[in-house]
Parts: sequence; C-alpha cells; structure tokens
Amino acid sequence: MKRIVIFASGSGSNAENIIEYFWRRPSLSIQFEVYTNNEKAGVVDRCRKLHIPCILIDKDQFNDKSFLEMIGNPDLIILAGFLWLVPSYFVNHFTDKIINIHPALLPLYGGKGMYGDKVHQSVLKNKDLQTGITIHFVNEKYDEGKILLQARCDVNENDDIESLSKKVHKLEHTYFPILIEQLIND
Ligand code: GRF
Repeated sequence: MKRIVIFASGSGSNAENIIEYFWRRPSLSIQFEVYTNNEKAGVVDRCRKLHIPCILIDKDQFNDKSFLEMIGNPDLIILAGFLWLVPSYFVNHFTDKIINIHPALLPLYGGKGMYGDKVHQSVLKNKDLQTGITIHFVNEKYDEGKILLQARCDVNENDDIESLSKKVHKLEHTYFPILIEQLIND
C-alpha cells in the first residue's frame, strides 16, 4: 500500500478530487492523510465527509525538523492550495517527492502572494488570451521548482474572476490526479 500526504488549506476541491479519483481505481491501494493550517478551511469538512484524517498544524511545528517524524516516509507529498513556504529541511529530505499545483502558466503570476483570485485578476488585467495550470516539483522558493505539466485554457472577453477560476479548477481536476498516478507508478 502506498501513502500520499496532501497539504491543503483552502476549499479542498483538489484534495477531494484526488482522493475520489484513486478510490475509483481500487487496484491502486493508497492511504491518504491531509494536513492543514486552517481549521475553518473547507478541506476540513471534506475530509470529515470522506473519513480521511485531517491534521491541523501550526507554523512552528511545520518549520521544526521534528515534523519529519510525524510525516514519516510517504510516497508523495502534494500541495493543493497550501500557502506556506516549505522549509529547506523538508524540501531537502523529500527531494522530487513534493509537488505543487499553481493556477496559472508559470513563470507567469507566481511567487509570494500570488494565489487564488489575485492570479486570475492579473490575467484579466493583462488581457492575456490564455491561462492555465502548472504542476511542479517544490523547492525552497515559491512556485519555482521544475515544471512537470502545464495545461491551458482560453480567456474570453466576457470572462471574469469567477469564470476563470472555474475553468482553471476544471483543468486542475482533470490533470492533477493523472499526473499523480504517473508519479506514484514510476
Ligand atoms: C487551486 O487553484 C490551486 O491551483 C491553488 O490553490 C487552489 C486550491 O483550490 N494552489 P482547492 O482548495 O483545491 O479548491
């Protein structure tokens, strides 16, 4: 049995989608565990409904090397809507085992503070014709690790933040589980 750890502090739609994707493939037996830094986040409710453990962590805990004992040795670590910078002890311990999803075509609209609606707002402001998603390995800098996958969608004249967010989430829900499946089968 493989073990996947997900860090999520937002609505958790990606976390839920990934878990359900693997449940639909019972031949791939995977144990999931979610970590969050926000007890009010939507992901907490979703985990409750799915009966998946959701563990609340604070920044001191996350930044202390002893956190490695708690995490153990998962096959993959997924950041899906997690905003804290991953500390270097953690990145170095899990080389090429941590992936993040970003709601834009990196290197565009990445870096500290670029998340959620702010990303879509910038895409609209710049009148970009396309946007999309990027899945990448995590290193010590925000949104800068090696890119594993990008997928695109068109931005139309009548798009707004809400419609773009929907399009981007749709891409995320389609491609993220497929890439994860490839990585854990490698
Ligand atoms: C996603 O758009 C992802 O790209 C970003 O955070 C968002 C999380 O969405 N890193 P959700 O909480 O999974 O719905």
